[in-house]
Amino acid sequence: MDVDKIRQDFPMLRGIKMQGKPLIYFDNAATSLKPQCVLDAILDYYRNFNANSHRGDYDIAHHVDVLFEETREKIAGFINANANEIVFTANTSMGLNMVAYGLMPKIKEGDEILLSEAEHASNLLPWFKVAEEKKAIIRYIPLTKEGRLTVENLKKSLSPRTKIVSLAHVSNVLGYILDVKSFAKEIHKTQALFVVDGAQSVPHMKIDVQDLDCDFLCFSGHKMLAPTGIGVLYGKYDLLCDMEPLMSGGGMNTHFNMCGKVGLQNPPLRFEAGTPNIEGVVGFYAAIDYLNAIGMENIDKRERALKKYAIQELQQCENVILYNKESESGIVTFNIKGVFSQDAGSYFNSKGICVRTGLHCAKILTDFLKTDGTVRASFAFYNTEAEIDTFVEACRNGGNFLDAFFDDK
Ligand SMILES: Cc1ncc(COP(=O)(O)O)c(C=O)c1O
Repeated sequence: MDVDKIRQDFPMLRGIKMQGKPLIYFDNAATSLKPQCVLDAILDYYRNFNANSHRGDYDIAHHVDVLFEETREKIAGFINANANEIVFTANTSMGLNMVAYGLMPKIKEGDEILLSEAEHASNLLPWFKVAEEKKAIIRYIPLTKEGRLTVENLKKSLSPRTKIVSLAHVSNVLGYILDVKSFAKEIHKTQALFVVDGAQSVPHMKIDVQDLDCDFLCFSGHKMLAPTGIGVLYGKYDLLCDMEPLMSGGGMNTHFNMCGKVGLQNPPLRFEAGTPNIEGVVGFYAAIDYLNAIGMENIDKRERALKKYAIQELQQCENVILYNKESESGIVTFNIKGVFSQDAGSYFNSKGICVRTGLHCAKILTDFLKTDGTVRASFAFYNTEAEIDTFVEACRNGGNFLDAFFDDK
């Protein structure tokens, strides 16, 4: 992979400074940077063929419709699904809410919903709501002492009452990769459905939903080079057909009358009420082309290598506590000894380095780690070993926000 050449495609990596220092962007798990081709695609839409989708009978509207459905097909190809299994959402959170509320009518009192303590709020709170509404029971699959989920612990947690298992493919804090395929095999021996939060996996590795055999998979465009406000809910077609739409309105119905009788479109349109995020879809098209041109296997390999290098270097720093040395994906979670994570964040800011600090929307996991917050550096394929060197040097020389005032460090 020619990283120098790739970096030229990202305007944010071409000389932008923060605090007078070259920007080092290590907050890719929060959102990715965008390449020029994505920005161009969005501008092209607004400049040259701005029209609504699935509504107009004129040429530019037709062009939007074609591009919209081609994007759906492109995303389907990207994860090896069928186009009618791809629902456009705003983000992962919306997709997970759509599944939780959509499946609610199937949940009965006393049914069990299996989650884990490592989940992001977006994969907990919608299920809490379902449990509250339906008097269902939330259970957590125990984590190993490192914070991993194992098939053994899944087996111990499944029961005849389990209706839903909903888990992150990659933890946004510890970066462990769930063995989705083995989990799906176990879960499908029961009546339960398997929902996967793909927010941190789809942007970073090759995904094949047929092979993984999960029932639903949700992910966000903004974490994989596309604009904010566009995401995807993948669902097996039969399951989508059997699911209630969260939102009603234009575009999702076939007919309705004065008595309130409403006919629903087939999936995926059934779940796409109202004017969609067309610029998001157009940008997603360009993002997928860009990722495919590099190759997801290459991206995966590169990010694992960056993580390995960072761990190797950070292990030499006596003042650094590492929480996930062994995890596979490009996420490093740590603390500087004796320093509150947000103070460390301010210090890194003074060095031009963007990291995430605090609870990472995974509050239960923070209790599990017995900290009041951590610092997270998350890499993307466009990051470099030289950036990691600068970051490690910053760790070695300080960490407290007061250190920010000593600029020679
Ligand atoms: C594991 C995980 N799930 C869900 C989300 C929510 O994603 P979004 O804010 O794009 O809806 C995130 C965001 O960081 C995440 O890391």
